[in-house]
Amino acid sequence: MISVNDVRIIELPKFLDSRGNLSFVEQMNQIPFDIKRTYWIYDVPGGELRGGHAFKQNHEFIVALSGAFDVVVDDGEQKKVFTMNRSYYGLYIPAGLWREMVNFSTNSVALEFGSTHYDVSDYVHDYGEFFKLKKDGKI
Ligand code: TYD
Repeated sequence: MISVNDVRIIELPKFLDSRGNLSFVEQMNQIPFDIKRTYWIYDVPGGELRGGHAFKQNHEFIVALSGAFDVVVDDGEQKKVFTMNRSYYGLYIPAGLWREMVNFSTNSVALEFGSTHYDVSDYVHDYGEFFKLKKDGKI
C-alpha cells in the first residue's frame, strides 16, 4: 500500500553559471516515469488552495520553478508537508495519495509532470471517498 513515506524529494542537476543557472529533468531518469503531460500553476491568489484530490493512476513530479509553496500529502493515516522553494528540487508523488498545494508565495510557479493524460475519471475529489478506497486497499 502506497504511503506518504513513498513520496520523495529528488535533487535535480544544477549547473551554476555566472550567466544564470540551469537545471533539467529527463523521463525515467530524475523523473521515475514516462511523462505524458506537463502543466503549470501560476497567478495563485494569496490564501488559495490547489489540488485537493487524489489520483488513482497518475504519478506526479512537481517543481517550484519560481517562488514557494507547500505540498501536503496524506495517505489516510499520516500526513507529510513538503516545502518546495528551490527550482532544483522535484517532489515525486506516486498515485494513490491525497494531496493539496497551499501557501503559494507571490509569483510562484508550480511545474507538474504527470504519467497519464488528463482524465477526469482518474480523480478522487472527495476526501471521505478517498479514505474509504484507501481503507479497502482499492487505491
Ligand atoms: P484541477 O486538476 O482541478 O486543478 P487543481 O487540482 O490543481 O486545483 O484542474 C483545473 C481545471 O483544469 C479542470 O477544469 C481540468 C483542467 N485540466 C486539464 O484540462 N488538463 C490538465 O492536465 C489539468 C491538470 C487540468
